[in-house]
Amino acid sequence: MLIPVILSGGSGTRLWPLSRELYPKQLLPLVGKGTMLQETLARVAGVEGLGSPVVVCNESHRFLVAEQILEADIKPRAIVLEPVGRNTAPAVAVAAMAAVSDLPKGGSDSDPLLLILPADHVIRDVKAFRAALEIGRKAASEGKLVTFGVVPNKPETGYGYIKRVNGAGPAYGIDRFVEKPDLATAKSYVESKEYFWNSGMFLFRASAVLNELRELAPKIYEACAQSVTAAKRDLDFTRLPTKEFSACPSDSFDYAVMEKTKLGVVVPLDAGWSDVGSWSALHEAIPADGDGNVVLGDVLTADSHGNYLHATSRLVAAVGLQDHVVVETKDAVLVAPKSRVQDVKELVNQLKKQG
Ligand code: GDD
Ligand code: MG
Repeated sequence: MLIPVILSGGSGTRLWPLSRELYPKQLLPLVGKGTMLQETLARVAGVEGLGSPVVVCNESHRFLVAEQILEADIKPRAIVLEPVGRNTAPAVAVAAMAAVSDLPKGGSDSDPLLLILPADHVIRDVKAFRAALEIGRKAASEGKLVTFGVVPNKPETGYGYIKRVNGAGPAYGIDRFVEKPDLATAKSYVESKEYFWNSGMFLFRASAVLNELRELAPKIYEACAQSVTAAKRDLDFTRLPTKEFSACPSDSFDYAVMEKTKLGVVVPLDAGWSDVGSWSALHEAIPADGDGNVVLGDVLTADSHGNYLHATSRLVAAVGLQDHVVVETKDAVLVAPKSRVQDVKELVNQLKKQG
């Protein structure tokens, strides 16, 4: 059995003003017909041996998440609710523990494969994604911790990089991880052809990841085990207790496990992947019109090129505008050159300070 584990914990601050704390990007229909969460679930529909998904999200998003899963006609195995965010290592740990908690011991499905999928990725070529998944399945069935490495097409500094060991594929040994390098370093990595982007998607047996968490991140393992034991089931929700889960150290799965394990392998993925972390990434993920504009909603343009223009409640008109992002919502409008969209994060921090 292969159980999808969907990580839906982020708040998507760089996609303000559409993405808000209570309505983050993964719960919005930013690229496809469905929301990003629904598109993530749809991407694995029909995969061999597919089990019901486990979704891990903040408790403040529980109704939106439950509603969107229901709307996609999917019965979740569990929706695990985090009272606070503790980054991805604890999220993976509680999901793995919740996924196996009520499986019959010793049965053929007692040690399922877990496919970790962040809820906020775009993958244009689903067929290529599925092919990589099958390569990963083989390695994961043999006890490996599989990470999917995206073949980079530019020196992106917003991603982590994975250096592979030279050797025969299709799954490669891992030499090292480098989280978010500077531009010059990223350039040299892309030129070397030995590095992949870390997609943040993983595949492994539940027993393999739980063993590695116990060995390599014992504090996280302990706090998560206690949290899952003390968790309350409430319909599809598994509510983690505030006291136990808050006591868990915060760390990413990359740092806590993947950088340390000897069982890691990387499977190349060339499938039009993006984590749409910013407005410019979203601009690239959506096919543009003949002027290079991505236009959504009620928008008029004249002599404007290379823009992302998004109207939700009023007419937006652009004249002679190049390489800008304009996002209009009922209570806020963002205007920024595409080269500055990473700084939206700063704006949101200012807004938070103002209360
Ligand atoms: N449930 C849950 N709880 N999910 C979380 C939490 C949490 O506390 N923290 C993060 N996530 C989810 C986010 O929603 C996102 O989908 C994913 O885990 C990755 O977290 P980010 O915070 O977006 O990480 P990042 O973009 O800075 O970097 C990571 O992802 C890149 C690819 O998108 C790293 O793994 C990079 O190396 C990688 O390239
Ligand atoms: Mg991200």
